[in-house]
Amino acid sequence: PAARVKRSLPELTHPAAPLVMVTAYDYPGARHAEAAGVDLILVGDSLGNVVLGYDSTAPVTLGDMIHHGKAARRGAPNTFLVVDLPFGTYHTGVTDAMRSAVRVIQDTGADAVKMEGSTPEVLDVVRVLSRNGIPVMGHVGLMPQTAAAQGGLRVQGKDDDSARRTLEGALALQEAGAFAVVLEAIPARLARLISERLDIATIGIGAGVHCDGQVLVYHDLLGLYEGEEKKIAKRYADLGRESREAIARYAAEVRAREFPSKEHSFVMKDEVIDKLY
Ligand code: KIV
Ligand code: NA
Repeated sequence: PAARVKRSLPELTHPAAPLVMVTAYDYPGARHAEAAGVDLILVGDSLGNVVLGYDSTAPVTLGDMIHHGKAARRGAPNTFLVVDLPFGTYHTGVTDAMRSAVRVIQDTGADAVKMEGSTPEVLDVVRVLSRNGIPVMGHVGLMPQTAAAQGGLRVQGKDDDSARRTLEGALALQEAGAFAVVLEAIPARLARLISERLDIATIGIGAGVHCDGQVLVYHDLLGLYEGEEKKIAKRYADLGRESREAIARYAAEVRAREFPSKEHSFVMKDEVIDKLY
């Protein structure tokens, strides 16, 4: 089949149909996502949890994001690619943030960057980046980079104060020039209200069905992530179990000298080997 044309920024900002976004962190994952025809791929800093084995996203570096972003881009050359700016790389002023974003764009070939929050500092960054031609995806609601300050990884926007802050944050990100906003772990009715108020796209995770799009973490979607199933994710496959079972079968066959069999072995003429005896 012919390579699908990459979604344009206007198509993503004002989508005609629900947007499908999935994370990917490497070449095979990105290839699978592109072959499945998703609209956007996110190289999320969830990398820290699901690929690098940290217990939060805080230790993830810009170098980590670039390393994995490059691999994802090689796997998905024709899909709109968003790369997360990790914790600390956009918090020390607009110049540093611009430098981080430019490095990500130049080194990975990403189409956009994503960052968390709607503080005045982050809004300044969103304004400068988008004005200078770097598309920015915002992220409000549950924000894993600063989850400790939000009282842990928990649903946000349940009381009127928190709900208002989430709505106003999303509106401010739009005003600052973001082309889309991730809404993470907020009540479905709040996400619906935000989606109605915003002109740009909302992309939900644990934010109900009325967002303009949805995002899932690759490892959650495929059952590759250890631990209990999260409320905000749905497992569409159990590849973790398949992986464990396959490796165990391999181990058993090696120990029983069943692998490699003839079909996985090379042959040579008897007279050649006989000369060596
Ligand atoms: O890092 C990530 O995977 C994300 C998505 C869950 C939106 O930020
Ligand atoms: Na993230």
